[in-house]
Amino acid sequence: MKLAVNVDHIATIREARRHTIPEPVLAALLAEQAGAEGIVCHIRSDRRHIKERDLHLLKQTVKTKLNIEMAATDEMKHIAMDIKPDIVSLVPERDEEITTEGGLDVLANEAHLQAHIQELRQAGIRVSIFVDPDTDQIDACQRVGVDLIEINTGKYADLKPGEKRDQALEEIGQAARNGAGSGLVIHAGHGLDYFNIRPVTAIPEMKEFSIGFAIVARAALVGIDRAVREMIALIQ
Ligand code: PXP
Repeated sequence: MKLAVNVDHIATIREARRHTIPEPVLAALLAEQAGAEGIVCHIRSDRRHIKERDLHLLKQTVKTKLNIEMAATDEMKHIAMDIKPDIVSLVPERDEEITTEGGLDVLANEAHLQAHIQELRQAGIRVSIFVDPDTDQIDACQRVGVDLIEINTGKYADLKPGEKRDQALEEIGQAARNGAGSGLVIHAGHGLDYFNIRPVTAIPEMKEFSIGFAIVARAALVGIDRAVREMIALIQ
C-alpha cells in the first residue's frame, strides 16, 4: 500500500502570516525523499491555503504523482486543464467548512459529473471521486466514468475504538470490495493518523492512503522526513 502526502497545511502555516514560508513544494520534495509515492493538495475556491503558484511549482517538481483535489466547477476544470496533474480528485466544497465534510453526492449530479469527467480524461488526466462508503454512491462513481475512488474514512476516524468504529470499518471494507469489483482502483483518506491507520491497512483492496493533517502536525515536532517514514512503516 502506498502513501500520498497532502501538503495543504504547510500552506496553512504560510498563510497564517501571509508569508512566503514554509514552502509546500519543499515539503513535497522532502516527503518524496522519505518515500511518499504521491503528493496531494486541495485548491479551494477561497484559496485559503494552496494557490495557483503552488500548483505550477508542484507540477514542475513532483517526481512521483501529483493529485489535485478540487470542486467540480468550470473554474477548477480550467485550472486542471492548465496544470494537467496526474490525477484530479473531485470533492464537495462548502465555503464555511474547516475541512471537506463528506463524500461527493454523485447520485444527485450524475449528468454534470459524467461530462466534467469526460473532459478531464480526454485531457489525459486520471480522475478520482472522494466518496462515502455507500454502495449506491460507489455504483454511481463507476457509471460516471472515473478511474479510481477515494473512500472517505472521516466517519471511522472520528470514532473511538469499539463497536461503532468496527462497524464504520466494515462499511469501508464493503465499499472497497464493491468498488474493486466494478474495476475501480481504491484509495482512502480523511482523518487518518498514526493511531487509527492500522485497521484500515487490513483491507486488501486498498492501494493508497491520502494523509495530510496528521503528518504535517507531526512534522512540526519531529520533521517531515521522520513523520513520513513513520507513517510508511505503519502502512506497509
Ligand atoms: N482526502 C480528501 C478528499 C481531503 O479533502 C482531505 C483533506 O484535505 C484528505 C484526504 C486528507 O485528510 P487529512 O488532512 O485529515 O489527512
